[in-house]
Amino acid sequence: MQCYMHDSAYHETPKGSCLESVKIAIDTGYRHIDGAFVYFNEHEVGQAIREKIAEGRIKREDIFYCGKLWNTCHPPELVRPTLEKTLKILQLDYVDLYIIELPMAFKPGDALYPKDENGKFIYHETDLCATWEAMEACKDAGLAKSIGVSNFNRRQLEMILNKPGLKHKPVSNQVECHPYFTQPKLLEFCRQHDIVIVGYSPLGTSRDETWVNVSSPPLLKDPVLNAIGKKYNKTAAQVALRFSIQRGVVVIPKSFNPQRIRENFQIFDFSLTDEEMKEIAALNKNVRYVELLIWPGA
Ligand code: A2P
Repeated sequence: MQCYMHDSAYHETPKGSCLESVKIAIDTGYRHIDGAFVYFNEHEVGQAIREKIAEGRIKREDIFYCGKLWNTCHPPELVRPTLEKTLKILQLDYVDLYIIELPMAFKPGDALYPKDENGKFIYHETDLCATWEAMEACKDAGLAKSIGVSNFNRRQLEMILNKPGLKHKPVSNQVECHPYFTQPKLLEFCRQHDIVIVGYSPLGTSRDETWVNVSSPPLLKDPVLNAIGKKYNKTAAQVALRFSIQRGVVVIPKSFNPQRIRENFQIFDFSLTDEEMKEIAALNKNVRYVELLIWPGA
């Protein structure tokens, strides 16, 4: 269950929709909630979790909440206060996973998307290893049960893994991953290092032109996914999610629609054959949907 948006200016979630969606998701059986400070809805996520605990439906330890360190907060001295701010908003004592959202840093300050007079993002010299040490301290302090990263490539992962005196390695790397962008090399590298890949946009995104490459065809219209779905009486979305979990990729589908939230959970009562897995893997186009304006060079 992903509760997200990519740039507050464009993707603010309508008030209350996140609260309702998280409650429906928890009732449906979801336990992994993918959030972030920059989604501006952590207060709703926290409220949903607390209400469900109060109802006696779940215990805190049943929930796996992932929070994210934003780009403006990479300086080591900002890491713990930033996580503490998230915990205050959530009204929780700890997050289950805290991850560095992106490997590149922005200029610290109140502006979450700092830009210069030409409208270009203002980056900040960053030492990822120093940021990582501050993340390790958050884990040692019990504020995060586990720590990880997001949008890291192999070189950036290696920088952390090879850091002298590494205390805790990243447990996961959250990256875009779905049948059109299967990330075979990164997946293999992460497997070798016991790093779980968490796949965002597992359904091919919401195709919002402000941050999505819409020239790439819609994943859920894919004939192969639909034909395989027909065989199992499942939708293309369910087949795409099943494909990912069957190859060991954690999925965080996003939906604010109760029916689709439930649909995306109905993926544990069928399995794809080896042939079908190969057929779907062959759909890989090596093209990402998510065109974050903040990718370097963009
Ligand atoms: P909605 O919120 O209206 O359900 P991703 O997880 O890859 O980022 O995709 C999210 C997009 O996919 C959202 O636009 C969401 O819209 C839509 N979506 C979520 N679940 C399904 C589904 N089962 N079938 C079709 N579209 C879906």
